[in-house]
Amino acid sequence: MNAISRLATVISLASLFPLSALAADSKGSVEVVHWWTSGGEKAAVDVLKAQVEKDGFTWKDGAVAGGGGSTAMTVLKSRAVAGNPPGVAQIKGPDIQEWGSTGLLSTDTLKDVAKAENWDGLLSPKVANTVKYEGDYVAVPVNIHRVNWLWINPAVFKKAGIDKAPTTLEEFYAAGDKLKAAGFIALAHGGQPWQDSTVFEDVVLSVMGPEGYKKALVDLDQKTLSGPEMAKAFTELKKITGYMDPNRAGRDWNIAAADVIGGKAGMQMMGDWAKSEWTAAKKVAGKDYQCVPFPGTDKAFTYNIDSLAVFKLKADRKGDIAAQQDLAKVALGKDFQKVFSINKGSIPVRTDMLNDMSAEGFDSCAQASAKDFLADEKTGGLQPSMAHNMATSLAVQGAIFDVVTNFMNDKDADPAKASAQLASAVKAAQ
Ligand code: BGC
Repeated sequence: MNAISRLATVISLASLFPLSALAADSKGSVEVVHWWTSGGEKAAVDVLKAQVEKDGFTWKDGAVAGGGGSTAMTVLKSRAVAGNPPGVAQIKGPDIQEWGSTGLLSTDTLKDVAKAENWDGLLSPKVANTVKYEGDYVAVPVNIHRVNWLWINPAVFKKAGIDKAPTTLEEFYAAGDKLKAAGFIALAHGGQPWQDSTVFEDVVLSVMGPEGYKKALVDLDQKTLSGPEMAKAFTELKKITGYMDPNRAGRDWNIAAADVIGGKAGMQMMGDWAKSEWTAAKKVAGKDYQCVPFPGTDKAFTYNIDSLAVFKLKADRKGDIAAQQDLAKVALGKDFQKVFSINKGSIPVRTDMLNDMSAEGFDSCAQASAKDFLADEKTGGLQPSMAHNMATSLAVQGAIFDVVTNFMNDKDADPAKASAQLASAVKAAQ
């Protein structure tokens, strides 16, 4: 078809379906700002979009690329300042409280849905409190990610002569040496601040245990931040950095995951959204790849809860408010919780599903994750991820990111100095 006849078709279709008629078909619309843009992430969010559209609403996609979401958060802030926030946005952890205090999130929109769907009964208090502001739901939690995973390509391990997944840092280094000697990238990584700090928090957890992790990265205790154990964590971090590809600067996390999936690299330290890339590549957990807790962290679970916050809209935008409510209702429904998490690599946020994962058709990684989540909740092993906005304000997180990334990029950096810098940077940002 040439350009003129294409245009003619568009014009005649437009006269058949005038815009007003198309708009009238939609019961309301919802714009969703999020950062789920990798192949696997997109497959997951498309499930939500399809359901909202099936319910008769229009989905406006506000995707902002950039793993970890800092670009999305910058865009969201400038839109809010300009008086043009979206209906819904991916916001997490303590940041929800900060947005709540601006008065821009709605404390009313989710009231009826939460009551009718019994959210208080479905969610553990830890999760519910994260998404409530002054007692009211202002966001709907969609899933739980575990951050402290190590992803392994067993075929690459085999070629390098490694017969088992490492369970200690010593075994991790031994595997790294063998991978390097066999010509592989030992540890795939993208040199971006949030990815650097994802590795850093795993190392802190491994060296200091969940109690030390909590004191340092959740309670922000000055003595622990500047103490000898933190210096030891930086020493291990330096060693680990030596196993990464030197060309890692700026690389996206899913490109690093592709190196492991494609057999160029042996391992990746990443939260279980990495599994979404394996799933999208049609690989099977336990067969084509292995997921193990990062060495030394098997009794701990750093959690990262994705949630969608709801902005206040003018009362006359009834259809758009109904769209926000529909999205929230869908997001905590059993069907969506299952399909979304299977695509996303996470586990459901509903306790009834967490308690019965085998019946839900989840793979071995997800089943292990749910089991550990429930067990670690009782022992103190369950800790919020600093790198994924669950533990501190974004200002404190930014200060930690800077110290960690500078340390990793400076081969002469001194671990003891880095821990002192960490403590003072955190203090200044508080
Ligand atoms: C989010 C995940 C996302 C990942 C990579 C994390 O902070 O919680 O949902 O897949 O960043 O973008």
